[in-house]
Amino acid sequence: MLQEETRRIEFRADIDSALTQLDTLPEILKRCTAAVVEHLDAAFARIWTLNAKENVLELQASSGLYTHINGSHSRIPVSKFKIGWIAQTCQPHLTNDVYNDERISDRDWARREGMISFAGYPLIVEGQLVGVIALFARHALNDSVLKVLELVSHEIALGIKRKQVEEALQKSEMQLRQKAQHLEETLHQLQQTQLQMIQSEKMSALGNLVAGVAHEINNPVGFISGNISEAMATVGDLINHLRLYQEKFDNPGEEIEKDALDIDLEYLLEDLPKMLSSMKVGCDRIRNISTSLRTFSRADRTSKVSANLHEGLDTTLMILQYRLKAKETRPAIQVIKEYAEIPSVKCYFGQLNQVFMNIISNAIDALEESNQGRSYAAIEKHPNMISIKTEIAEDRQSVLIKIKDNGLGMTKEVKSRIFDHLFTTKAVGKGTGLGLSISRQIVQETHGGSLTCSSALGEGAEFAIMLPLDRS
Ligand SMILES: Nc1ncnc2c1ncn2[C@@H]1O[C@H](COP(=O)(O)OP(=O)(O)OP(=O)(O)O)[C@@H](O)[C@H]1O
Ligand SMILES: [Mg+2]
Repeated sequence: MLQEETRRIEFRADIDSALTQLDTLPEILKRCTAAVVEHLDAAFARIWTLNAKENVLELQASSGLYTHINGSHSRIPVSKFKIGWIAQTCQPHLTNDVYNDERISDRDWARREGMISFAGYPLIVEGQLVGVIALFARHALNDSVLKVLELVSHEIALGIKRKQVEEALQKSEMQLRQKAQHLEETLHQLQQTQLQMIQSEKMSALGNLVAGVAHEINNPVGFISGNISEAMATVGDLINHLRLYQEKFDNPGEEIEKDALDIDLEYLLEDLPKMLSSMKVGCDRIRNISTSLRTFSRADRTSKVSANLHEGLDTTLMILQYRLKAKETRPAIQVIKEYAEIPSVKCYFGQLNQVFMNIISNAIDALEESNQGRSYAAIEKHPNMISIKTEIAEDRQSVLIKIKDNGLGMTKEVKSRIFDHLFTTKAVGKGTGLGLSISRQIVQETHGGSLTCSSALGEGAEFAIMLPLDRS
């Protein structure tokens, strides 16, 4: 009797330590079944947990003769066999007549293995079934086995419930985390869209203005240019007529000769046609400018067009001319172009021009900043420079545009953040910190290229735009 009591205490202690010391449910239940085998002389012991959704019992642990949990009894519907029946009735069960028990699924197996007894106990917590613990033995069992199982079943049931709640918590925590992450991504996307909208609004306003001005210029320029052509012919006729007079009347008299000398007639006759043709050249230039302005602002949001990047760069420089030219405080910023022969690139031209505009404007800003505190003479000695170089990659699969300035450059910290949304080192009202993040998006996401920067403090900055050539 004392011995039995001692075993009972030891058994309980084993179960307690399993429940308190082990981490995962399979580990805990495995130790519990091992304790049943050891302390109750079972041939093997098993624990199933209830999957309430599917109304089946799932084998979680097995010790003794069988240790696998993936055999034919790994899933037992509630009400089927002995285990299912215990689950359904929520009643413990003990039999010493396994050989003839109809609820035993394989009695041949029982005879073969000499399994004569079976005991099972429902695992219940707060009136709810969470699983079943059961054992087979090769010797007769008395009712005290059920008493012992009763002693631990509540604890095991609590352990199962606790772990299940923990797992559910972890799962919902993970789902929450995923949701939060998803929200963060959505927010990021929204910010990007907003950013693009602001910028494209800005660009389309600029584009409309530029296109409008270009259009307005076109008419008067056409009118002047047409009249100059007419005037050239007319002036030619007049000159010929004058020459005829000179031939026929080689002695026109003192007054006319004096006037011819006063107005330097010979020079005038030679110069007037030249004057007119240079006016014509000027008109043609204005017309070219207005054409490229219209190309610059061309609406190409829906499809890519084949474009000459040099044209885009030149037009951008032209639009920025007012910032490049000489001022009281400094000489003009020198622009050095090294254009290679590159093929036209299929692109959203307006958007790429926007990239050129952002990068060249930044370069001018950087140069202006480097001029702070330097005299005109000092700047003249080390002039502000922007170099623009284009080249085709060796494999001829992409083109490269490098835009470099000899401004102050940037620190490592600044450089690591320049492509961040809203990052700026400029004064409020001067910079919004959108230029480069938009540019990178246009180059990388819209064109599948890359936009990189190399710079160090005191060494200027170089931005490289790589654009893949679309061979189709
Ligand atoms: N050529 C450059 N030399 C030195 N620093 C530069 C250069 N280009 C960009 N930067 C740095 O990168 C920052 C971010 O540039 P970005 O064009 O994105 O924004 P921003 O010019 O400040 O404002 P925005 O372009 O929206 O008007 C700048 O504030 C500046 O500190
Ligand atoms: Mg900028």
